Amino acid sequence: MRTNIIAGNWKMNNDIFTGNNLINQIIKLLEKENANPNVKIVIAPPYTNLSEAKEIIKNNTLNIYLSAQNCHYEDKGAFTGEISPSMLDALSVSYVILGHSERRLYFNEKDTIIAKKITSVINHKMTPIYCCGELLEERENNTYKTVIKKQIEEALFSLSNEQMQSIVIAYEPVWAIGTGKNATSQEAQEVHQFIRQTIKSKYGTIADNIPILYGGSCKPDNAQEIFTMPDIDGGLIGGASLKASEFISIWKSLKSSKTI
Ligand code: 13P
Repeated sequence: MRTNIIAGNWKMNNDIFTGNNLINQIIKLLEKENANPNVKIVIAPPYTNLSEAKEIIKNNTLNIYLSAQNCHYEDKGAFTGEISPSMLDALSVSYVILGHSERRLYFNEKDTIIAKKITSVINHKMTPIYCCGELLEERENNTYKTVIKKQIEEALFSLSNEQMQSIVIAYEPVWAIGTGKNATSQEAQEVHQFIRQTIKSKYGTIADNIPILYGGSCKPDNAQEIFTMPDIDGGLIGGASLKASEFISIWKSLKSSKTI
């Protein structure tokens, strides 16, 4: 059975004070609910919050894990301003978001570099959350499957079978990120199924166990419908992860959409 995941990508929001507050609010709300062992909660705050966040979630039995939003592929060296996988590992970080569309757009990240980061993260026994997805024009001119296939081939297809087993994928249609627009559940399911098929073509049944998360204006009012789709295993949530009540409401939708 695939793991279901709700991941909150805070992006460049919250300092240590507001961030601690948000995590404490999330924990408080979760404590009132029955945890589902097959639904993980992943929180991806800015680097500056990771150390404090680690202390707050330490010893929790609520199935909460920490993620970084990016990292370098080298372990150390003269890369001013960068953070390495080994530094994240030392902070008990479990996941690293890689290839987010904002990294591609604003920092010119390409899949060749993202592939190196993925290998590095796996070597440190952390799980990459690899983001892929098309631009609006690629959706409109119907080239989105070609684009997504190329992203997956370039970033993931040099992995061994064993490495591939530790990947999480997030499908993030770029036109739906932070715009309030979102893919319909059928549109999202079509791409998730396509991603799984693409991975299956090289890795066979390993593809059946890879969690594929939907990201792109996933909110409390559309989450339930999206999560009922068979190839959608959770969400990578941006804006709605900044409010504890909305984030937990989305988590509840996933919990109730998937049977244990
Ligand atoms: P929004 O949920 O704000 O659209 O952001 C999605 C996203 O980019 C998650 O990584």
